[in-house]
Amino acid sequence: LFAGPVTFLKGVTALEALPPPDRTEICFAGRSNVGKSSLINALTGRKGLARASGTPGRTQEINYFALGDRHYLVDLPGYGFAEAPKAVVERWQRLLRAYLAGRPSLRRAFVLIDARHGIKPVDAEILALLDRSAVAFQTVLTKADKIGPAARERVLEQVREALQRHPAACPELVVTSSERGEGIATLRAIIAHLD
Ligand code: GTP
Ligand code: MG
Repeated sequence: LFAGPVTFLKGVTALEALPPPDRTEICFAGRSNVGKSSLINALTGRKGLARASGTPGRTQEINYFALGDRHYLVDLPGYGFAEAPKAVVERWQRLLRAYLAGRPSLRRAFVLIDARHGIKPVDAEILALLDRSAVAFQTVLTKADKIGPAARERVLEQVREALQRHPAACPELVVTSSERGEGIATLRAIIAHLD
């Protein structure tokens, strides 16, 4: 699947502009700056495909990438703090939640959690929304290169424990570093198995 072409399709700012729900769709959600766009670049092996930056609130649209001819990878705006005007942030937060709760072709939501921080209240709120909407989700720890083994065990324990309370959660947790490539092959294989 990842050996084939991947192209940017469009950036969506309103539900009416979403493409027809006729492909297997996989999205990447998470707090601003957690590393969603970087992970898409690492997965596709295309550095500048999704725009990443150190400024929280970089991605402001629902960005669609066509992976081969049967899958979409979807880069979402972050939730939580963002360096953008309040009215704009509120608009994209509403769009993001409406998308997550009501996209029929959404096969799995990957919810990215910063390995240094674990699950924050705003993450828990999104996980609860996914439970209510019965959207299967899987948590992905990001920026694993920034922590040592002891901190990693602590956060893994916290996340595993929290996931038990979420009926829509896949039990398997993936630890990644877009910087070092850790977990990228595993995540590609998981996506390739979704149909
Ligand atoms: P928004 O679009 O603003 O919500 O952010 P995002 O979740 O798309 O994050 P983005 O991919 O833009 O990355 C944010 C910052 O984290 C950038 O400076 C990245 O270089 C950095 N970053 C992302 N992934 C990793 C990683 O695995 N390791 C390290 N060390 N830095 C990372
Ligand atoms: Mg982004």
